[in-house]
Amino acid sequence: MATRMKLKLKTVFVLYFMVSLLGLIYALMQLGQRCDCTEHDIPKDRTISRLRGELHRLQEQIRKSEATKQPQKPPARQPTVFVITPTYARLVQKAELTRLSQTFLHVPQLHWIVVEDSPHKTPLVTDLLVKSGVTYTHLHMPTAKDRKLQEGDPSWLKPRGVEQRNEGLRWLREDRRAQPGGDNQQGVVYFADDDNTYSLQIFEEMRSTQRVSVWPVGLVGGMKYERPVVEGGKVVRFHTGWRPSRPFPMDMAGFAVSLKLVLSNPEACFDGEAPMGFLESSFLQGLVTMDELEPKADNCSKVLVWHTRTEKPKMKRRGGSARSGTGFRPCGGGLRDTHTHTHNHTHTHIHTVKRTLLFNAA
Ligand SMILES: *[C@@H]1O[C@H](CO)[C@@H](O)[C@H](O)[C@H]1NC(C)=O
Ligand SMILES: *[C@@H]1O[C@H](CO)[C@@H](O)[C@H](O)[C@H]1NC(C)=O
Repeated sequence: MATRMKLKLKTVFVLYFMVSLLGLIYALMQLGQRCDCTEHDIPKDRTISRLRGELHRLQEQIRKSEATKQPQKPPARQPTVFVITPTYARLVQKAELTRLSQTFLHVPQLHWIVVEDSPHKTPLVTDLLVKSGVTYTHLHMPTAKDRKLQEGDPSWLKPRGVEQRNEGLRWLREDRRAQPGGDNQQGVVYFADDDNTYSLQIFEEMRSTQRVSVWPVGLVGGMKYERPVVEGGKVVRFHTGWRPSRPFPMDMAGFAVSLKLVLSNPEACFDGEAPMGFLESSFLQGLVTMDELEPKADNCSKVLVWHTRTEKPKMKRRGGSARSGTGFRPCGGGLRDTHTHTHNHTHTHIHTVKRTLLFNAA
């Protein structure tokens, strides 16, 4: 009995000893871990404070950049590009104007001035403009009889579109005179014939024009391109296939003029009597010198507009439809034909319709 008690006590003692030992080991392990943790905490703390510093610095930077942006907050309206396009009745007219209007839909702040070579505004062009979604002004100005190209005349015999471009300029000057800002209005004037092909980029290039900006034109003058030659950021001569001695041997599509310059030179216009190839020069001569030309399109190294020519379609069936330039508008439908022959001698109607550009709605 007594030995059994002794044994039990011994067991209890051993158990107690072992439990205590385990407890001590556990406590020691915990201690060890805590030691490890504190050792890790120091670089962690450093990292956190470093990141806090970084965050603070970035927040400061954002605050500063927002402060500098503040003055521009009401976004400075970019200058409007006024595009003057002479056009005349022919088989491909509707196709050309459709293509052009759909290019212009992609250009913000563009005002299209379409001037028909016609004694009245035609339903074809009127309808096309109404449906185009482009901000436009529709004008007309017939070419004087003695200056009109006759059937079979080569296209270079007489410069085309002279009266129409001048009419566009006249309207623009009159319309702008009524606007605030006088001769100091921001804007750019560009002469865009309806058969060319325009990269959207050319409109952004010309938007910053101060006086007269210039760039290459592709597929013109029997060459792959013509271009002003730029050295040290200045136009020094022209790469052209024909009479480089002309004051400004450039295509109509190769330059834009600031609205300011157009307004402050009210007499500047195209001279229909200018010798062949001198039409562009007749307009630019009084406005700018070669030294003042502003090269665009990466110092005139890129072609962003092409003098494409749509082939004149050959009608197989004569059904009274193959005449051109006589007021027949095949694309406008036969019924419209009757309207185009009614004569409206009212001079130059101005009809400006402003529409929200689809561009903005997209
Ligand atoms: C045009 O050329 C000038 C002078 O060589 C140069 O300073 C400028 O950066 C060039 N501009 C472009 C857009 O390449
Ligand atoms: C001529 O045009 C004006 C303005 O577009 C119009 O009011 C007038 O009715 C037209 N006249 C004829 C005969 O078409």
